Amino acid sequence: MAATEEHAEPGGKTYYVTTPIYYVNDAPHLGHAYTTVAGDVLTRWHRQRGENVWFLTGTDEHGQKIMRTAEANGVTPQAWSDKLVEESWRPLWQHLNIANDDFIRTTEARHTDRVQEFVQDLYDKGEIYKGGYEGPYCVGCEEYKLPGDLIEGEGGVKLCAIHKTPVEILKEENYFFKLSEYGPKLLAHYEANPGFVQPESARNEVLNFVKQGLQDLSISRSTFDWGVPVPWDEKHVIYVWVDALLNYATAAGYGADQAKFDATFPADVHLVGKDILRFHAIIWPAMLMAQGLPLPGKVAANGWLMVGGEKMSKSNLTGIKPQDLTSHFGVDAYRWYFLRAIAFGQDGSFSWEDFSARYTSELANDYGNLASRVAAMIGKYYGGALPEATAEGDAEQAVRDGLTKAVTEADRRIGEELDFAGGIAAIFDFVKQVNGYLTEQEPWKVAKDTSDAGQARLATVLYTAAEALRACAVLLNSVMPDTSQKLWESLGAAEGLGALADQRVQDAAVWGQLPVGAKVTKGAVLFPRLEEKPA
Ligand code: MSP
Repeated sequence: MAATEEHAEPGGKTYYVTTPIYYVNDAPHLGHAYTTVAGDVLTRWHRQRGENVWFLTGTDEHGQKIMRTAEANGVTPQAWSDKLVEESWRPLWQHLNIANDDFIRTTEARHTDRVQEFVQDLYDKGEIYKGGYEGPYCVGCEEYKLPGDLIEGEGGVKLCAIHKTPVEILKEENYFFKLSEYGPKLLAHYEANPGFVQPESARNEVLNFVKQGLQDLSISRSTFDWGVPVPWDEKHVIYVWVDALLNYATAAGYGADQAKFDATFPADVHLVGKDILRFHAIIWPAMLMAQGLPLPGKVAANGWLMVGGEKMSKSNLTGIKPQDLTSHFGVDAYRWYFLRAIAFGQDGSFSWEDFSARYTSELANDYGNLASRVAAMIGKYYGGALPEATAEGDAEQAVRDGLTKAVTEADRRIGEELDFAGGIAAIFDFVKQVNGYLTEQEPWKVAKDTSDAGQARLATVLYTAAEALRACAVLLNSVMPDTSQKLWESLGAAEGLGALADQRVQDAAVWGQLPVGAKVTKGAVLFPRLEEKPA
């Protein structure tokens, strides 16, 4: 636990977590929610370490992709973005219980004004020049493509390897950022900071890419106008990716609130999908270097959610709405499932059957049943007043040891390594252990032994199980906040120990926190039996 304490930085720099800002060309699907939930869990975990945390998400609203979608729907891009943000994006994050501190939209003046200042500054420093470029462009990615990024479609048509749609040849006179000059500095930074890009496969991809030599980056567009005007040449708008990446600075107060900026920036963790890795691990740090600003702590790339072997996406119609699943499984189980079932950083397939099976075995049978059995026995044998443990032995010590192990492991894996699956598994191993402990101790049989020794054992077993559940509520609060709150209340902990959010994860293994006599109630079933799968 000492290891976790040194990460608590009271009064120090805010632990700053970001998600990508999402394109508003359509409504969110499971893939978007995956990264946002991961960010939320990471945020809540660090909050429960007692750190100052700031969690940012938002929307990316400029560029050709949004402009074309709006045109196709007969509205202005601004009207389209407003509708999507208010009707789809914000409500989803609320529904999924996402505790973001800010939500930035790239069309807000607090963003666009600062983007212009940032780019003007680079121009004044001689980092930007005017030049020409011709090459294949994917509107889905909003990116010029290199030959290696393309695949061949029917009739030899060149397709974007990610979107599988034809690329367009664009020829423009644009402003360029001297990205090519930053290769050696970037390589030195990756070298000195091995954890800068995570996981290892992502790091290698970035290293190889930079080692091949970087081209300068076109940072303006003049063939359409849905973007932030280039301040010194208003015939151009700023390239949507430069605009978008700057959200991480503008939301943190860049150029507007120096105190906030100093306390918050740079991000400790940028969570990104693997398809937008190069923007975050190459272009963004180079932009910061050019301004003399500090670089983020880590760019962590997650894999894709796949359906039938394809990347789930809005455009290829495999997008499943999170609400289709939460209405069946509940919000907490939803938050839990994707982080539990897919190793962070790798691709993962979603299947209804796998979700149902894990829900039933781990959530309902292992965790939910444990909570309801313990509360029911304390109700039956003690009228709901938590009894005192007076006869502890090796079996109880083993439970305490199991808990210490779970806390240490979960804190390292979730809090440090972003290994959500491993951290959650460590907590659920402990849940299993407590179930095993009850099966072995058989309190329902011990209850029949009316001797003093028998009664002391019964009280000890039930206190031990309740204490173990108290710790589970703390450890799983980041992942399943509503469930933890219900359990917290059913254990009488809200009265005995105060607010769950104030409980420190690193203190979860401190034994004996639930006060004897705490009012234990059965409470609502944590994970109800699943209905039939909807047709
Ligand atoms: N607007 C840019 C990001 C700018 S950040 C400065 C963008 N938006 S996006 O809406 O297309 O994608 C946002 C994120 O969703 C990306 O990280 C992308 O990887 C992620 N996902 C989109 N589909 C996904 C899956 N099927 N699975 C997991 N994540 C995926 O890119």
